[in-house]
Amino acid sequence: MPTMHLSLYVTADEEAMAHEAAAIIRDQYSEAIAKRGVFTIAFSGGSTPIPLYRLLSSPQWAKTLDWSKVIVYWTDERCLAPENEASNYRLARTELLSRVEATRFYRMKGEDAPQSAAEAYAKLLADHFCLIPGEFPRFDCILLGVGTDGHTASLFPGDPALMDTEHLVTDVYNPKLTTARLTLTLPVLNNARCCIFLASGRIKNDVLSTALNLMAAPILPAQMVRPHNGKLCWVIDSNAYQG
Ligand code: 6PG
Repeated sequence: MPTMHLSLYVTADEEAMAHEAAAIIRDQYSEAIAKRGVFTIAFSGGSTPIPLYRLLSSPQWAKTLDWSKVIVYWTDERCLAPENEASNYRLARTELLSRVEATRFYRMKGEDAPQSAAEAYAKLLADHFCLIPGEFPRFDCILLGVGTDGHTASLFPGDPALMDTEHLVTDVYNPKLTTARLTLTLPVLNNARCCIFLASGRIKNDVLSTALNLMAAPILPAQMVRPHNGKLCWVIDSNAYQG
C-alpha cells in the first residue's frame, strides 16, 4: 500500500540541521545499498545545503558513505556555465564532491540551450533508471530547499511547469530570474523514496507557516512535494521554526 511517511525535525541550529539530514541520508544510503547496491541522490542548489555538504565531506562522514556506490544528480540548475559561481553543480562540486572520492555525478548542462539541455537530462535519467515511456525515475533521496516565495528546485509559484505530468525535466523562464532554469518535475520529486527539505533562518518563518501546512490543499510548490510512496522529511533549524 503506497504510504507517505512525514517527519519534521526542528534542530537547535544549522549545524544540528546538517547532522540530522546527514543521518537521514545515511539511513537511506544503507537501505539502498543493501537492496540495490547503489544509492541515487539529487542535490539542490541555494545556500542552505552548504553546512550539510561540508559535514558529508568531513573525515568522519567521508568514510560513512562509499562514494563509489553513490550516483549524484541535480534537482535543478541555472542556465549558465558550470564554472559560474551561481551554478548548483559548482556549489556541490566545490563544497563536497571534490573533497570525497565521488566520481559518479551527472550535472544538468546549464551551458546548453535550455530546452535541449532539459531533453538531454531527461534522456540521461531514462537511460540510468531503465525507464519505459511514461515511467518516472525513483531516486533514493532528493535534497530540496524552499525559497521565501515557496519555490523548490526551480518550480516557482504559478509556473506552468508545476502542471507538467509528462516530462522528467523541463526548462523554466521566470521574469524575476536573471537566467532560465532547468528542473526536475513534480512527478519525479513525488516518486522519490525520500525527499528531504532543508530550511534555516528567520527569513523562512513566513513561508514555512504555509509550506508546512500539509493538511491543506497545496498552494506553494514546496507544499506539492508529497512522495506518494516514500518519506517526506522537513529538517529545519529553530530560527526557521516559529513554534
Ligand atoms: C536553486 C535551488 C532552490 C533553493 C531555494 C532555497 O537553484 O536556487 O535549487 O530551489 O533550494 O531557492 O535557497 P537557499 O537555500 O539559498 O535559501
